[in-house]
Amino acid sequence: IRFDLNFIEFYKFSVTVNIMKRFYLTTPIYYPSDNLHIGHTYTTVAADVIKKFKKMQGYDVYFVTGTDEHGQKIQEIAKKNGLSPKAYVDKIVADIKELWKVLEIDYDTLIRTTDTYHEKAVQKIFTELYEKGEIYKSTYKGHYCTPCEAFWAESQLVDGKCPDCNREVHLAEEEAYFFKLSKYRDRLLKFYEENPDFIQPESRKNEMINNFLKDGLEDLCVSRTSFDWGIKVPFDPAHVIYVWIDALACYITALGYGTDDDEKFKKYWPANIHLVGKEIVRFHTIIWPALLMALDLEIPKKVFGHGWILFEDDKMSKSKGNVIYPEPIIELYGIDAFKYFLLREFSFGQDGSFHREKFLQRLNSDLANDLGNLVSRTVTMVEKYNEGLVPAPVEEEDLDNSLKDIAINAAGKVEDYMDKLNFSQALEEIWKLIRRTNKYIDETTPWILAKEEKKDRLDTVLYNLSESLRIISILIKPYMEKTSLEIRKQLGLTGDILWEDAKAWGKLQAGTKVEKGNIIFPRLDIQKELAKLNEANDKLIQERSKGKKGSKVEDVKKEEEVQEITIDEFAKVQLKVAEVLACENHPKADRLYVLKLKLGEEERQVVSGIKEYYSPEDLVGKKVVVVTNLKPVKLRGVESKGMILAAEDSEGNLSLVSTLEDIASGATIS
Ligand code: MSP
Repeated sequence: IRFDLNFIEFYKFSVTVNIMKRFYLTTPIYYPSDNLHIGHTYTTVAADVIKKFKKMQGYDVYFVTGTDEHGQKIQEIAKKNGLSPKAYVDKIVADIKELWKVLEIDYDTLIRTTDTYHEKAVQKIFTELYEKGEIYKSTYKGHYCTPCEAFWAESQLVDGKCPDCNREVHLAEEEAYFFKLSKYRDRLLKFYEENPDFIQPESRKNEMINNFLKDGLEDLCVSRTSFDWGIKVPFDPAHVIYVWIDALACYITALGYGTDDDEKFKKYWPANIHLVGKEIVRFHTIIWPALLMALDLEIPKKVFGHGWILFEDDKMSKSKGNVIYPEPIIELYGIDAFKYFLLREFSFGQDGSFHREKFLQRLNSDLANDLGNLVSRTVTMVEKYNEGLVPAPVEEEDLDNSLKDIAINAAGKVEDYMDKLNFSQALEEIWKLIRRTNKYIDETTPWILAKEEKKDRLDTVLYNLSESLRIISILIKPYMEKTSLEIRKQLGLTGDILWEDAKAWGKLQAGTKVEKGNIIFPRLDIQKELAKLNEANDKLIQERSKGKKGSKVEDVKKEEEVQEITIDEFAKVQLKVAEVLACENHPKADRLYVLKLKLGEEERQVVSGIKEYYSPEDLVGKKVVVVTNLKPVKLRGVESKGMILAAEDSEGNLSLVSTLEDIASGATIS
């Protein structure tokens, strides 16, 4: 009876352990900028490798990435392109999805902040925080930079000027909602102390404490009224919710939090790892945990802030023309070479420079010389000396033990490094084994054993080589899936690839038929390839910059053009001719005019963003066309009743719409 009880307890325990083996990881959600470069792919490639690794270890892994589509910048770019923000982002998000497909990124959800379920959930979260008293309405008093349309706290100013554009700021006030971030300072510090692994690498934690928490936190302004491309505050729709609340919430809404189906949230939250670039660690380790505390939710286990990939020592930037795109690299050398280089060359926590020459050198040394050679030498020798069948080991020597030792211990070392997200060292451990195995060939000289007809020893050496390669094929799988499968094909291995099988020696069955295939990584002529790679990248940069003015935007426009409306729908819009009586600068916004218009007997005020195109003298006395039945809105605190129509071409030239002949103000247009 006692045994049975123990057995039941053990069974219950193992079921629980099984249920607990879950792993939730995320990348940041990307701004929908035209064409992501290799720096952008860094986080996603790393996350994908973690997913594959954890899956091999038997975890049930959930991986979320996404796109961060709201905000003033997107609204402005879309406008410049003559598109609605949604139409603009739709096209770019399609390109991002395509890139993840090219890179074979195996995400489970790509959440878009414009997804309706997310928008609703964010509104729910905002309301809950408001009702709990965690968010309150007040006035934002701060230093306002008119060109940037941004408020700054005294402490954020640089030499008393705007930290973004270095221009003069002035004191201003605006109604806004605030999150009580200040009250979480002590809890955050305590949380860091009790969870020393929460912020990684360690240096980033010190940055957060010294730069942001040490001197106290201010409450956070979490709504904006200066633009409307965002999620509206449900109980006060003149305000849109701050983009970072919208964005961070993705990590829980992607799992269904705040929706009717929160099964995944219950299953996977809290996240095991949020992978983020170093510049956004602050949002993820201060604002995000404080919001979660306010919502009474668990805090993620780890936020890892990785370094940046620079372009030959400079920050990658499209405007400087110094970007490297992943597509040409992948087309010329394959996904595995690309991913291997990203994770092997750079230390994950630090910045690193992408040098094309170094990439090609590593391809030659690590992939062609070390791994490629090992595969082709091993398979060739098994074919040549044992008719293509893996022999059974017969005559062992001491020398073999050093190879076996390294081989069976490699997986454990890789695990340790992967736990610390030290991809580079994890790969180095695998390459130690690869190099050791190559050395074993040189030490045992199978061709001499064959010549001297030392069959028993030769069989053993061939077995050990093949067996080591079997282990290598497992170890590299999370990083280089295609290569792993190709090696296994050449070794004649079938069946599931299990991580645990990398820890045992002797799993390879004698008699397995090997089959020589293509060289997995051919040696390259570096100078020739460098020229090829540069040409392909430059060509893409050119095509893409042309595409900006031409095809890409045109494509979207075409998509928009097909959205037809009926005459009845059009009839809902009331258009009238109006005379401009007066035109003054908006008191708060640099790009806006406040215009007095005359429409027959009626006079009304309209705010319009035409300041950079017309001076007040150009406008006063002119007749313009106005949409008169738009709902009145307050633009930066000034009421606007209607909208003046203007035409804008793809170069950004703007012209106000008027009638061909003079006609009385108030005349209706239909
Ligand atoms: N939208 C925000 C994240 C919101 S998460 C709730 C954002 N987006 S981003 O598109 O600008 O950046 C996405 C990720 O790409 C970030 O982790 C960023 O650090 C990373 N990278 C962008 N350029 C990079 C390099 N050159 N090198 C490495 N990663 C960099 O931030």
